[in-house]
Amino acid sequence: MSDKATLEINGKKYEFPLITGTENEVAIDIKTLRAATEGVITIDPGYKNTGSCESAITFLDGEKGILRYRGYSIEELAEKADFLEVAYLLIFGELPNEEQLEKFHSDIKKNSVVDDDIKKILDAFPKSAHPMGVLASLTSALTSFNPSSVNVDSEEDMYNAIVKILGKFPILVAWTMRKKKGLPFDYGNSSLGYVENLLQMMFKQPNEDYKQNPILVNALDKLLILHADHEQNCSTSTVRITGSSHAGLFVSLSAGISALWGPLHGGANQAVLEMLEGIKEDGGDTSKYMAKAKDKQDPFRLMGFGHRVYKNFDPRAKIIKVAADEVLGDLGVEDPILDIAKGLAKEALEDPYFVDRKLYPNVDFYSGIIYRAMGIPTEMFTVMFALGRLPGWISQWKEMRMRKEPIGRPRQLYIGETYRPFKEMSKR
Ligand code: CMC
Repeated sequence: MSDKATLEINGKKYEFPLITGTENEVAIDIKTLRAATEGVITIDPGYKNTGSCESAITFLDGEKGILRYRGYSIEELAEKADFLEVAYLLIFGELPNEEQLEKFHSDIKKNSVVDDDIKKILDAFPKSAHPMGVLASLTSALTSFNPSSVNVDSEEDMYNAIVKILGKFPILVAWTMRKKKGLPFDYGNSSLGYVENLLQMMFKQPNEDYKQNPILVNALDKLLILHADHEQNCSTSTVRITGSSHAGLFVSLSAGISALWGPLHGGANQAVLEMLEGIKEDGGDTSKYMAKAKDKQDPFRLMGFGHRVYKNFDPRAKIIKVAADEVLGDLGVEDPILDIAKGLAKEALEDPYFVDRKLYPNVDFYSGIIYRAMGIPTEMFTVMFALGRLPGWISQWKEMRMRKEPIGRPRQLYIGETYRPFKEMSKR
């Protein structure tokens, strides 16, 4: 293969280098395009063809349904590693040995407290507030209580900011849910594992000991691993572009949380469950909703279906579907919603509309069913996604800073009015 791409504009030829990644993906390096052509730019709404960076964190092949973190397959990681090991892998590039993992966890635990005034901020929100808005605000607010995490000038500063947020974020997640439920805030117990502690902080009743259920711990661990990174998606790109102005880690994460909230991204897990509930209440007629999804005059989309990159299957959805069956079976939960979900998936996988457009169930299609079986309120689903994605966002932010990437600042093609003289009020 040639190592150059040639572009011809008005009879003049320009050459650009082709660069190849470790998985043989090829990109045209157009860094010099605008200068060489005196102003020509590319247009690519939604960045469907644009690589925003070179990254060594996550590889995904949407055609083959491959997802790997730092070279390790998602299937193996979900089966053999725990969430904290995966977080370490994503952030530092290698799986930790015992000693490294212990130190990492111990540093996180030392930071697993928040300033008591955070409670006042949380208290000021109405109970009806959506947990994603609350989480974004609290994550941003943490900056004020930890100003040293803003100016990251050394690897040590970076490490400190990372263990701080990994320690404090689960508290924000758990307390956001407790606030909604009217429960007093709980700090958990630092002798517990990361996920066990999260469950305790979320679910412990004030007058009872919290009994861990290994099925739930295992299921949540798996779900968090499956959500931990997904290369340059909407929220991750938001984190990188926010951090590219050298904004601190916590506010960059807060921006990512806001981006994740939308129903076309992380908010889809809440939207899926609400859709399934709606179908159930409407009599369970899945074909009616299939018809709506295919009707171009109807804005309804089958939530939890389709993906910008996966055009064959979403490997995360495959693992989650099996996990959903296991968890519901182990807990003895019979959820008619699961039957509706399976019915919809079966119909869609055989329907030419979905087959032709390569629309398959994505990670969000089944995750909500597991969260629901765990007793997590629907509005909290995207918050759980955010907790899982935290190590991915951190690792992408760290990579962007360490590679000294320039500030993110796309161009545009202006299509508005050309110059016109100011119109006086009396003439408008
Ligand atoms: N239901 C019905 N039609 C769909 C759907 C859907 N869920 N998704 C895509 N299509 C159709 C779309 O109308 C278009 O049809 P046509 O070619 O006739 O105009 C075609 O499929 C291509 O869709 P697109 O919107 O151009 O694809 P995209 O890559 O821009 O969007 C997506 C990807 C995930 C936003 C979209 O599939 C969608 O809205 N899905 C539902 C929301 C969802 O489940 N999001 C979670 C994504 S996975 C979690 C995450 O990482 O965020």
